[in-house]
Amino acid sequence: SKSVIVLGLESSCDDTAAAVVRRDPTGQTEILSSIVRTQTSLHADFGGVVPEIAARAHAEILDHCVEEALTQAKTPLSLIDGIAVTSGPGLIGGVVSGVMCAKGLSAALGIPLYGVNHLAGHALTPRLTDDIPYPYLMLLVSGGHCQFLIAHGPDAFERLGGTIDDAPGEAFDKVARLVGLPQPGGPSVESAAQAGRDGTFTLPRPLLDRAGCDMSFSGLKTAVLRTRDRIVAEHGGLPSQLRADLCAEFQAAVVDVLAEKTRRALSVYLQAAPARATLCVAGGVAANTAIRSALENVSAEFDASFVAPPLSLCTDNAAMIAFAAIEQMPHRRADDLTLTARPRWPL
Ligand code: KG4
Ligand code: ZN
Repeated sequence: SKSVIVLGLESSCDDTAAAVVRRDPTGQTEILSSIVRTQTSLHADFGGVVPEIAARAHAEILDHCVEEALTQAKTPLSLIDGIAVTSGPGLIGGVVSGVMCAKGLSAALGIPLYGVNHLAGHALTPRLTDDIPYPYLMLLVSGGHCQFLIAHGPDAFERLGGTIDDAPGEAFDKVARLVGLPQPGGPSVESAAQAGRDGTFTLPRPLLDRAGCDMSFSGLKTAVLRTRDRIVAEHGGLPSQLRADLCAEFQAAVVDVLAEKTRRALSVYLQAAPARATLCVAGGVAANTAIRSALENVSAEFDASFVAPPLSLCTDNAAMIAFAAIEQMPHRRADDLTLTARPRWPL
């Protein structure tokens, strides 16, 4: 057997990314390059990602990202064994841009094409950096996703539950907007919360009393809005100490919900009795120190190891897409030029 080198493309949201990943014959995987160009500034004035702007920007710079990824990997296209592309779920225009770019390269050079589920990319990331056996439990928490999955294999995921409305990152972003902190909201709310005092405010812990692993974060955001309005009515503004207190209580509520639902997910997962139980977390919200350490503590309660990939691999990137294709290759066929973008594609 020889090594396998895959070029990955990702353009399902507001990051345009290309990467080259190699698996050598011993099974060791190496990221030869990973280019990520974020569009945050393009959308800054609009309070969210504008799909048309995103799609156009992806189409404009994808080729350039591919070139950069190949150059940085010192790997010409002639050495590429497969082209992996996010073919869903995501914003349709961006996904189409990526799929068209990948099809073009595949058809022109006769390189096999692999459509990859973006969520599978996130969910498989822990195996890119750590030696983790299947099945492992994955909590995917980002601006767009929030779900518990048991990864039984590279293309076999069991969903245990997830948010029924907003994702936690989205809630952090909205809360930041409500209290006048900059975007992205996660880091700015986390940093404000550091100066916050316990007990000034009490926010709900939604769905904590309901069985199962489903979560809800939109009511929490509404509760923040009401509390903010009450403070403003009383003080004629939002004093920075009270803002910090509110951020701290919001973050504590998110931590409590995630921790308790993780306990339940671990209980279900452990019934599958894997030899080495592992909880993995991925997604941008995994950057939050309070959330991370709560999850680490919960893992310890259950004697499970806790694995969080480096942040650069937790947020959207193309290395995870290339890697997912490498993991899946022994279990699937390549796609042909009929591959289409799937805006909705549950795992
Ligand atoms: O995975 P990601 O880069 O993009 C997707 O949503 O797919 O995640 C971005 C999200 C944003 O909502 C951002 O506010 C949140 O992750 N985030 C955080 C932190 N850093 C980023 N949320 C809480 N605490 C943080 N430190
Ligand atoms: Zn993502």
